[in-house]
Amino acid sequence: MITFQINDMQVKAREGWTVLETARQYAIDIPTLCYHESVSPSGACRLCMVELKEGSWSKLVASCIYPVAEGLKVFTETERVNNVRRWVLEMLVAAVPASPEVRALARRYGVTDTRFPVHNPEEDCTVCGLCSRVCEEVVGLSAIATVDRGVHKKVGAPFMRPTDVCVACGCCVTVCPTGAMQKIFDSVRGLPKMPLTQLA
Ligand code: SF4
Ligand code: SF4
Ligand code: FES
Repeated sequence: MITFQINDMQVKAREGWTVLETARQYAIDIPTLCYHESVSPSGACRLCMVELKEGSWSKLVASCIYPVAEGLKVFTETERVNNVRRWVLEMLVAAVPASPEVRALARRYGVTDTRFPVHNPEEDCTVCGLCSRVCEEVVGLSAIATVDRGVHKKVGAPFMRPTDVCVACGCCVTVCPTGAMQKIFDSVRGLPKMPLTQLA
């Protein structure tokens, strides 16, 4: 076991765990958006930032991808952490203004407005990739792809054509943190196959 500190509390973790996994074992609250315990972390949203400190040295790291180490000193509620958290939430509110889930998360941390430009008031997908990771890693399929780059990046069926690879299990809808997958789902799933008896 590895022993280290989170917010002045001594904690124990298994080799290979991340800081976030350990914090969750001890019910220490760290907000996340692109993380789900069932799939590999991507470190995409930066909402789970925490501060590592040692004397006058300190740095911010994404807790969902930062591995635990003996003697680490982790802080989850410092001024630097709270600033970066609010900054990330403001960016998210601007990026996905149509997501009630993200607005509720932002309000929880005191963010009710954003200084960043809103390009699409209808947008609710952060392109966090959680849906495609769960489809691939948990369901064992590749029914969701990420297409385009930069601001045009979006998720959908490969080549943006409905695919009968999808078995309509609903896992992607369940893990989506913004509610966006509910709308995208029909364009991914494609039409259910017609039973042979009805084709005669
Ligand atoms: S649909 Fe949801 S889970 Fe998929 S990329 Fe968009 S926000 Fe993430
Ligand atoms: S519903 Fe379809 S796209 Fe979504 S996880 Fe299941 S198989 Fe993949
Ligand atoms: S939850 Fe860690 S980067 Fe998104």
